[in-house]
Amino acid sequence: TGTFFVGGNWKCNGTTESISKLVSDLNSANLEADVDVVVAPPFLYIDQVKNTLTDRIEISAQNSWVGKGGAFTGEISVEQLKDIGCKWVILGHSERRHIIGEKDEFIGKKAAYALSNGLGVIACIGELLQEREAGKTFDVCFEQLKAFADAVPSWDDVVIAYEPVWAIGTGKVATPAQAQEVHVTVRDWLKKNVSSEVASKTRIIYGGSVNGSNCAELAKQDDIDGFLVGGASLKGPEFATIVNSVL
Ligand code: 13P
Repeated sequence: TGTFFVGGNWKCNGTTESISKLVSDLNSANLEADVDVVVAPPFLYIDQVKNTLTDRIEISAQNSWVGKGGAFTGEISVEQLKDIGCKWVILGHSERRHIIGEKDEFIGKKAAYALSNGLGVIACIGELLQEREAGKTFDVCFEQLKAFADAVPSWDDVVIAYEPVWAIGTGKVATPAQAQEVHVTVRDWLKKNVSSEVASKTRIIYGGSVNGSNCAELAKQDDIDGFLVGGASLKGPEFATIVNSVL
């Protein structure tokens, strides 16, 4: 579905120096033309990245404030992200859900505000290991998806990232069949609950221990439209391999 989309979520990693090296590796990498490529640096380094990274790669934030900026200590607004050159924001990441405690409704509001103000949203969903083991994977994903669906004004600039929590940062990647099963079911949910058009055009990307060696098999699955990469996105050449895995 659509153009293959690969995002690099740098999370809370990097220094001026390591990011300068990563940017130069990305600038010299050979990236397939027909892939949307996005990186999400920590807020502090967005300006550095914007000023040094090739325009071939778009920039995402890892979070945004739920409404207009103002007296919200420690937050970063959508308006500021747009001002500094961001095109995207990652919302609903499992680390923000489960470590920081963000809830569905709050995440939905953030998505609505970001989309209404011109940022694309990488909308993350995914189940915990205990939820998978209890047979609740689809219930959990549908509930998280519904919170986005209830809030967003349009799906035009939304990419859904399915990231099973047990696969994130663990080296335990979902098998291509496990990922495909959820992706096709998410697409079916969109068809039934939003529209056939949205179901067929919305990209559903996979995240969780994607690396240079497992990306090609995953990319072959019918309903995997790209990746959201954590650890492996901190290495320029490996990230380029993942970008080019659609071939
Ligand atoms: P890893 O690729 O490090 O497992 O992280 C995935 C992720 O959370 C991307 O958002």
